[in-house]
Order: sequence, then structure tokens, then C-alpha cells
Amino acid sequence: MQVIKQYIEQHKQRLLDELFELLRFPSVSADPKYKPEVLKTADYVAKKLTEAGADNVEVCQTAGYPIVYGEKIIDPAKPTVLVYGHYDVQPPDPLELWKTPPFEPTVRDGKIYARGACDDKGQFYMHIKAFELMMQTNTLPCNIKIMIEGEEEVGSNNLGVFVKANTDRLKADVVLISDTSMISMEHPSLETGLRGLSYLEVEITGPNRDLHSGVYGGAVANPITILSKMIASLHDENNHITIPGFYDEVIALNEQERKELNAAPYNEAEYKKDLDVAELWGEKGYTTFERTGTRPTLEVNGIWGGYIGEGAKTVLPSKAHTKISMRLVPNQGSEKITKLFTDHFLKIAPASVKVTVTPHHGGEPVVTPTDSIAYRAAQKAITESFGKAPIPTRGGGSIPIVALFEAELGIKTVLMGFGLDSDALHSPNEKYDVFNYYKGIETIPLFHKYFAELSK
Ligand code: BES
Ligand code: MN
Ligand code: MN
Repeated sequence: MQVIKQYIEQHKQRLLDELFELLRFPSVSADPKYKPEVLKTADYVAKKLTEAGADNVEVCQTAGYPIVYGEKIIDPAKPTVLVYGHYDVQPPDPLELWKTPPFEPTVRDGKIYARGACDDKGQFYMHIKAFELMMQTNTLPCNIKIMIEGEEEVGSNNLGVFVKANTDRLKADVVLISDTSMISMEHPSLETGLRGLSYLEVEITGPNRDLHSGVYGGAVANPITILSKMIASLHDENNHITIPGFYDEVIALNEQERKELNAAPYNEAEYKKDLDVAELWGEKGYTTFERTGTRPTLEVNGIWGGYIGEGAKTVLPSKAHTKISMRLVPNQGSEKITKLFTDHFLKIAPASVKVTVTPHHGGEPVVTPTDSIAYRAAQKAITESFGKAPIPTRGGGSIPIVALFEAELGIKTVLMGFGLDSDALHSPNEKYDVFNYYKGIETIPLFHKYFAELSK
């Protein structure tokens, strides 16, 4: 522990400067206009992996953005940790809401503000620096494989292909990921599950062209009105989802599990204050932790149509659109849920409109074990670096590749994230505490140490 702290202290400024360099790349995977920058980011990550001491570093080409891979095999008889992260980020829009530009990282009040600061550049880079630390101090206790992809934020479509084609190269005993949140710095926690995802887009077409809203209004269905009604009908008065069969596969938590989950510290007043809402909303009969961690949900991510420019234009639009996501829990399957939604939405549409539903990406839910060697190693590492045992929580977000690692490689994951829910992931002014960045670099070598020790 002394060695770790000393190394971080000695290299403090450089560790931060390098992260800043990484954050300056606008590696937005969703928007093709950033393509050259995304590719440069992959090269930068590869360079840093090599400098940190990794062997066989490769920028692996895929049908989309490349996957950066590197490894250090010290002894094939020793256990192997596969580290996963992503160098791509979400689009920075709306730009005008950022206090400082998204790709010019700035420290304010001990927090690094930049797109990707927490999700996931600040978090995966801790692993590269922790690896460097273990190499430089001769303390790497196990084999390590590091894989950083560039398409997580757009559904990891090509990663599945890569994993299937590289099962030997990726062979490991556990996957270690820092891309999730903790409750707070005072309450370190470990996520023990992630929700799945079914994401789709809907187009509603009314008349074959935009119409004068006076000449035709009242006689022809307005697709925006119809779509709004259809969306509103997807939740009932208890905020249950009304799609037939939606809950059929859901595994309910038993009383003991619910009790444990709700024992985690939670301050509703602060939660509301942080979001500036007077009241919370959700499925009746469940707490906030249950609603976000253990129950499936349906959200409208966007809705558009008609005239939204300056001033007024009287128009009865031909089309209306929406993007909808459903978060899934064990034992729901994303393809089945996408089909249930599609069938239901087509069924409830009146004859006055035509409906098309286009599925986007999906991902399966996971629960990670809490009785494994790797989980215990993470518990010990956090207990030592934070001075407090981590609380198990269920995450509301999705990392689809976790289920795929299980299915294709047969290995389980430890979600050792150091972010906070309030880090504004995917929002303007995303941040990551400088404290958490160093804490991560401190905790990760301890994980490797205890994982190697407990594996003996
Ligand atoms: N790191 C997040 C997921 C996350 C955040 C999990 C916080 C738990 C806590 C990841 O980058 C992400 O945003 N995933 C997407 C899904 C993906 C398929 C676009 C998500 O959850 O919306
Ligand atoms: Mn992420
Ligand atoms: Mn994300």
C-alpha cells in the first residue's frame, strides 16, 4: 500500500496531464463527423498501453471503430484478469449548456469537467495507469489483458464479433470493468447487476404530405396527437407498463434481497433537490433503488415532428417520430421485448395512421456473483483504500458486453466503478472527481493483489 501511495504521489501531475490529453480527443462514436478523431483516440490509447509496459499491443480493426488490445503475461500458471473499457464518448450536445467546452478538460472545485471524464475515459485510464504502476514497482501479481473498445455508446455491435473470433486471446479468469457508479465517496459500493436494453425508433405517418392545419385540421388525424396518446397509454395509473407479457419473465426479488438492497444509504430529500423535482415518479410499490436497479422500465428518449423553427407555422404534419428505450432485468430478453413492444404498438394504432417500428441496439441484463474470489478481492481492495467495506448495489445502466462475455467466454465480471450518479454522464458538464481518479489508481493494484492471493 505504501508503494502504491508513494508512486501516485510522485507522479501526481503527470497522471492527471495524461488523462487531460486523452479527454481532449472528441471521440464521439455516434456522429460520423468525428471519425478521424475517434481513430486518433484509439492510436493514443495503444501508445499509452505500450508505454505502460504492455506486450502485443494492437489496434484491432473491426467493421466499425477499432478495439485496442494489450497484455502482460507474467506466468501462464497465474490467474488472468481481463480489463474492459471504452474510449468512445456520447455526443456533447447541447453545447450551450456547458460551462467550459466539453473537450477542453478543466478542473473546478476538485472536479474534472469534460465529456468522457467519468464515462469512461477517466475510469478506464485508471487501469492503464495502475498497470504502469505495477510494472514500474515490480508488483504485477497476475496476468493482465486490457481491451478498450470504441463503440460502447452505440451498442458495441462489432465487439461481439471480435470476442467470438478471439476467444483464445481473451481467455481469462475474470473481467474487471470500471464503468459504473458508487453511492458516494463516503459510501463506496460495488454494482452487482446491470439492466439490459431494448432500444427502438417509431415513425407514425398520417396524411401523405404536410397539410394546412386550418384547411384540413379537424378532419384528418394529426400523427403527433396520435403518437402522444399511444405513448401515454404505455403506463397505467400505477406506472406499470401496459404491454401484454412485458413482465412475464421478470424475476422478483425475495424479501431478504429487497431488504438488503434498501439498506443502502439513501436520502430522498437530497435526491430530489439534486434534480430540482418536487416529487419522484415510478412504479407503485417499489423504492427508488428497486425502480432503478431491479425493475424494468420504458422511457421516451426523444419525440419530434411538425414545425419546431422560429415563430409559428400552421401545419398539420404528415409524420411524427419517437425513440424509445426499455431497460430490462433478469430474466427478460431484449429480442422478445422488442417484439412485444412492436406487436403492441401496431395493435393500438388507429386506422388513421401507419406505424413502423425500427429496432436499434439491444443488450441483455446481468447479475454478477457476490460469492466469487474476484468479488471478494474487490471488497478487500475497496475496504483497504476507502477504509470502509463496499455496499452491494444494482446498477440501472447497461453494458451489453457483460452478458456477452459470460455467454461467449464463460467468465463473470466484477463491476468496480468509481463514478457517481451525479457525475452527469451523457449530460452537459460531465465530471469526475480528481479524488476518485487517484483513488481508482490506488484501489486497482490492490484488486490484482488480492485476486492473485485468493486464487492460490
Ligand atoms: N457506463 C455506462 C453504463 C452505466 C452507467 C452503468 C452508470 C451503470 C452506471 C455506459 O457507457 C452506457 O452509457 N451504456 C448505455 C448503453 C449502450 C448500449 C448505449 C446505457 O446504459 O444507456
Ligand atoms: Mn460507459
Ligand atoms: Mn455511457
